[in-house]
Amino acid sequence: MTISRAEFPPGFLFGAATAAYQIEGSGFGGAGPCHWDTFAATPGNVVRAEDGARACDHYHRWPEDLDLMKSAGFDAYRFSTSWARVMPDGVKINPQGLDFYDRLVDSMLERGLKPFQTLYHWDMPSALADQGGWANRDTCHRFADFAEAITETLGSRVASIATINEPWCVAWLSHFMGIHAPGMRDIRATARVMHHILLAHGLAVERLRGMRQPNLGIVLNFDHAAPATDAPADHTAASLWDGIFNRWFIEGITRQTYPENVLAGLRPHMPQGWRDDMPTIGQPLDWLGVNYYTRHLHSHAAGTPWPHLRDVPGPLPKTQMGWEIYPDGLQTFLTRMARDYVGDLPIYVTENGMANADQLEDGTVTDRIREDYLFAHLRATKAAIEDGANVKGFFYWSLLDNYEWAEGYAKRFGLVHVDFETLKRTPKSSYHALRRAIARND
Ligand code: FCB
Repeated sequence: MTISRAEFPPGFLFGAATAAYQIEGSGFGGAGPCHWDTFAATPGNVVRAEDGARACDHYHRWPEDLDLMKSAGFDAYRFSTSWARVMPDGVKINPQGLDFYDRLVDSMLERGLKPFQTLYHWDMPSALADQGGWANRDTCHRFADFAEAITETLGSRVASIATINEPWCVAWLSHFMGIHAPGMRDIRATARVMHHILLAHGLAVERLRGMRQPNLGIVLNFDHAAPATDAPADHTAASLWDGIFNRWFIEGITRQTYPENVLAGLRPHMPQGWRDDMPTIGQPLDWLGVNYYTRHLHSHAAGTPWPHLRDVPGPLPKTQMGWEIYPDGLQTFLTRMARDYVGDLPIYVTENGMANADQLEDGTVTDRIREDYLFAHLRATKAAIEDGANVKGFFYWSLLDNYEWAEGYAKRFGLVHVDFETLKRTPKSSYHALRRAIARND
């Protein structure tokens, strides 16, 4: 069953998302080293130790990539501007980097694509990582400087700005679980980053509001948390995970508080005076971005330190990432955000998509499973709108197969297949299905 543009409110935006480090090629254009380059260079961190030095070579092939979005009929493009490209040492501007984004944004506008910019999609300049990265409070101020510098150049032409992509990944996944750069497993660093990443958001919003920049938001990710069994301890585990993943950041921003069940573990490690930062963190947003992929089942892990949790494989069909396919979770989060936190504020689905072991055969890729995933999640979005959530757009993750962080290049999320030898782009059947759906107006 397909879907059509006409089933969504007038003005609803369809688009795709990417991130700088995952597509551009960090080895080009005078970009400075970022913590992903060094993380990948350390054995055991990334599958086959692959890095983003060339990635999809979008740095040189961007006209073709923008044309692909135009031909798909997209209304908007969610992209990120790399901190390490614009400020290779974290402080001084690289004019070549700024020029790259300058041209990119002009060329989006020429093609009728609304530029949805993200300021931080994980390319922390190594010079700042050396000083402690997000565990160091000063980094929040450096980030506000970056936000200001790039907005001076691009601000009048972008349709919206997100400060941070996925604070949970920046903090928990990268400092507690050690899975993403900088690969730490340290509760004290985690607590600091859980807070500093929101402070960085708040300081950047303050700076950009001072420049009268409109349409400021943040992109949070959400993971449906369910108990593995009906045991009370598993319910407690799922609700703690919900606190860590789903409530911490949105409650910091909209209520200027953190969930008590999470503070119970992190409080001793929080940076001194953190409460004084809450008004900065809690400034009003213009919109909220929701990234959603999957759900997890949780159980109590007796005999382990706080948070006493482990996740248990679930029974639903899984993507190439091993993530269960659970579209209802998207409807639940969109509805929950509107009801409990942001009311009528515009919400965008800023990422949703699946990895699949796509095969290029006779010059084509048939990925019906991705078409089903995509349409099921578009229907979930529509259902949330019918529930009253003010959802204004949907960005598929991702336009291209790309560098999937610790998974390297093996996990393919794209609507467009990329041959990582030749860099040839081939639109998949899902690309064409989405193109037809958004061209339909009946
Ligand atoms: C999200 C990230 C994005 C991509 C997808 C699969 O967590 O924002 O860069 O890796 O997952």
